[in-house]
Amino acid sequence: MATVFVSGTLPGDGVARLRASHDVVQDEAGIRSAAFATCRAQVEAVVALLTDRIDSHFLGGSPRLRVVANVAVGVDNVDLAACRARGVLVTNTPDVLTDATADLAFGLLLAAARRIAEGDRLVRAGAFTGWTPTFMLGARVNGTTLGIVGMGRIGQAVARRARGFDMRVLYTQRKRLPSPVEAELGITFVGPLDELLGSADSVSIHCPLTPETRHLFDAARFARMKRGAVLVNTARGPIVDEEALAGALTSGALAAAGLDVFEDEPRVDPALLGCPNAVLAPHIGSADRPTREAMAGTAVANVLEVLAGRAALTPVG
Ligand code: DGY
Repeated sequence: MATVFVSGTLPGDGVARLRASHDVVQDEAGIRSAAFATCRAQVEAVVALLTDRIDSHFLGGSPRLRVVANVAVGVDNVDLAACRARGVLVTNTPDVLTDATADLAFGLLLAAARRIAEGDRLVRAGAFTGWTPTFMLGARVNGTTLGIVGMGRIGQAVARRARGFDMRVLYTQRKRLPSPVEAELGITFVGPLDELLGSADSVSIHCPLTPETRHLFDAARFARMKRGAVLVNTARGPIVDEEALAGALTSGALAAAGLDVFEDEPRVDPALLGCPNAVLAPHIGSADRPTREAMAGTAVANVLEVLAGRAALTPVG
């Protein structure tokens, strides 16, 4: 029986499955909690959230730690090199959240381009005074060009949705996909990001946060985008310079943005809060119930496998 720490409250029966064979300590406040402090010297597995920073300081206090199971596909909260150096395995939750996140990305694209959230606020404020031909005109989605930055699982799922809207899909990422995959998805590779930005009516970000992608979207990049384009970010907040984005939204360089992630969550830049053409969601890309249960289930299954001496199901790196 090993000591397992579970950060936060998980949906589904994963924690019960862990308790059946291990000593589980759980706390809403995560690895900063007093509960974790009491068990950190014994802990062999941690089910971590993306809000937990797993760095060398953290690892130093838990010499028996064998596995960190992150309940997220993104692992930018984990210092992978430090974990590797200490022989701590890291796992994530790929696949199970692909469709939910792609659904939200497409929802944000529609909501931002067609001003749905803004319209909702207007109706609730009693400011809907009747239909006119010039009222609340937005940007077109159907039949336009979508640029996808990062054509991994989620980028591909967004491309599939775009097909239903007769969109032309361009993509960029470090490595071009094999041509049968491009043909199946009906997507076109555009090497340089700036070239994609100059051709796309909307851009959806699906790359991981790394030192190279931090502030990949800054004022210079917004200046490269088509005037009146729409930006969607369901990946990680720091990929976008929020202050620069607020400037582009205010000047009209961009028509709108749909954001599910922010630079310094849960804080949102006041300048963005002041942009009526920004649709702001509270990091809910994977937040449909079956998806979140599957994410928790994957993390728990990884812990159970590793503690039983077997290979992790979804190791990172
Ligand atoms: C992830 O898995 O990285 C998401 O941001 C959580 O929804």
